[in-house]
Amino acid sequence: MQQLPSNSISLFCFFCMLLSSSYAKPRISSPAFAANSCNFPAIFNFGDSNSDTGGISAALYPINWPYGQTYFHMPAGRFSDGRLIIDFIAESFGLPYLSAYLDSVGTNFSHGANFATGGSTIRVPDRILPTNEGFGFSPFYLDIQLSQFMLFKSRSQMIRQRGGIYASLMPQEEYFSQALYTFDIGQNDFTADLFADMPIEKIYASVPDVINSFAYNVKSIYNSGGRSFWIHNTGPLGCYAFVFLYSPSAPALKDSAGCVKPYNELAQYFNLKLKEAVVQLRKAFPSAAFTYVDVYSIKYSLFKEPEKYGTSSVSHTTYGMEEVRINTTLH
Ligand SMILES: *[C@@H]1O[C@H](CO)[C@@H](O)[C@H](O)[C@H]1NC(C)=O
Ligand SMILES: *[C@@H]1O[C@H](CO)[C@@H](O)[C@H](O)[C@H]1NC(C)=O
Repeated sequence: MQQLPSNSISLFCFFCMLLSSSYAKPRISSPAFAANSCNFPAIFNFGDSNSDTGGISAALYPINWPYGQTYFHMPAGRFSDGRLIIDFIAESFGLPYLSAYLDSVGTNFSHGANFATGGSTIRVPDRILPTNEGFGFSPFYLDIQLSQFMLFKSRSQMIRQRGGIYASLMPQEEYFSQALYTFDIGQNDFTADLFADMPIEKIYASVPDVINSFAYNVKSIYNSGGRSFWIHNTGPLGCYAFVFLYSPSAPALKDSAGCVKPYNELAQYFNLKLKEAVVQLRKAFPSAAFTYVDVYSIKYSLFKEPEKYGTSSVSHTTYGMEEVRINTTLH
């Protein structure tokens, strides 16, 4: 088991700073807003398997062993053997791990809720899970996650007002404006098209539409009162094992890190447009904080320079990058 060096992890803890980035190397720019404090009392998360803490397990089918074996010692609704980045973010604020909104058993939303599900896209997916055709995507794409959040926001307050045993499981009203809103979504919009053999030029052409849908959802949360946004860019999807499983042309297109170069270029193009959209959001809503996090560079580095992390190779398998199990094929 390899852990990332603590300087990579601490990157995720600069919540008072804005991270700007180039693809080569994440760097910190001067803080563009001075938040009064970083004591976020709650987190509301939106995304895919990178940050699913039990959604798809509750809604469709449970995630099985060996997921969960390293840290939770049982499958814990995460596509990882250990914790996900979102778990470390919660820990860094002293908050409990986020319960999945879709989980109806034993959940506690007093400090936030997680709307992410494995296989989620930003736009409506063509092929939804469950499917018996090779691959499929979550029915809970970003617009649906947003509607679930809106419903949660109003219903949770009704339940608090009613009092009784459920009231303490719901967030206080003011948490919605004080919370950190986190996003990690986008990769599946492209893998869906790539696996469907869509010409890559057509996929490039779809990027603005994907970005617009994303920005629309962020704006909706801003309009509902959210003010702090933490936005992960998308990872090097050309490095993921399932790409090799589903795309016959992948093996011929590998770079020196063993990743499919044109797929990574597509991810970088998406990230460029995402970053532009974040700049626009900052301009449009100066009273809010939008932090763009260059997860791509960190993840790519795991594949490109595994020796930096104390191993000779990183398996191209894991979604949750924090506890990378070198030897285990997880997906
Ligand atoms: C829900 O979680 C909060 C924070 O961890 C805790 O204080 C509270 O007691 C929990 N509620 C129940 C009913 O377990
Ligand atoms: C790989 O797995 C084998 C057998 O489970 C173990 O002995 C070995 O130490 C592992 N290597 C690494 C790098 O984790």
